[in-house]
Amino acid sequence: MSQHTDMTSDTATSSHADTVILTRDLCWQWPGQAARLRFPDITLPPGEHLFIRGASGTGKSTLLSLLSGMNRSMTGTLTVHGQELTQLSGGARDRLRADRIGVIFQQFNLVPYLDTLGNVLLPCHLSAHRRHQAGDSPPAAARRLLAALGLPEECLGRKPARLSTGQQQRVAAARALIGSPDLILADEPTSALDTLNRDRFVRLLLDQAANSGSSVVFVSHDPALAGHFERHLELTPTMGDQP
Ligand SMILES: Nc1ncnc2c1ncn2[C@@H]1O[C@H](COP(=O)(O)OP(=O)(O)OP(=O)(O)O)[C@@H](O)[C@H]1O
Ligand SMILES: [Mg+2]
Repeated sequence: MSQHTDMTSDTATSSHADTVILTRDLCWQWPGQAARLRFPDITLPPGEHLFIRGASGTGKSTLLSLLSGMNRSMTGTLTVHGQELTQLSGGARDRLRADRIGVIFQQFNLVPYLDTLGNVLLPCHLSAHRRHQAGDSPPAAARRLLAALGLPEECLGRKPARLSTGQQQRVAAARALIGSPDLILADEPTSALDTLNRDRFVRLLLDQAANSGSSVVFVSHDPALAGHFERHLELTPTMGDQP
């Protein structure tokens, strides 16, 4: 099953060097599932933002897992920041993700035993590159990001269980942004928010990404958010796409 209406794709002339993401003929099949997910081609230049929408089950989260290197695509090509992910080992894909990619998961995936600052600083512990990019004082960078995203000061020492959903979302966004990764992948992070807070959050995320020159790929089932993004991709269910 799955997809498309590709408004990002692109041009035979695009080269790996001038794109953050370049995919061709990407497919994925989950174990035990008869249908294969086929994804439309993506070409994303540095600093540009892509909105991916589609109904539940069309493969949005699966596509992000391929873009982040958490799963390796079965067929096709996928280049992130000039590196062909399908050719890299699991360890090399983990390194690329730690250095170059910030991920905001659908369920945030904050570490329950770390407080807000500890969660935001995690990428700086996993990657010397991100730590270096965060400047002389990563904790100060974390505080600045959290303030810019509107998290109250009193939340800095709290663990995720003592934060509201909207506050956890801001922590997850700051963790993705710290150390200015080239690419931020955001999986439906606004689904729990009302319209006003949802639009505000997307604006804050894109403003902060622009400050650090990061490209954002933002997944949502909500077409109302599309106006914030210059590039769009729609995944649609299609029946009977057997391998
Ligand atoms: N771990 C898994 N094992 C087997 N099948 C899976 C797994 N994760 C997802 N799928 C299947 O892959 C398809 C796409 O799922 P995916 O989670 O990517 O959709 P989605 O567009 O992100 O949906 P939602 O909007 O509900 O988050 C669905 O048919 C789903 O059942
Ligand atoms: Mg999903």
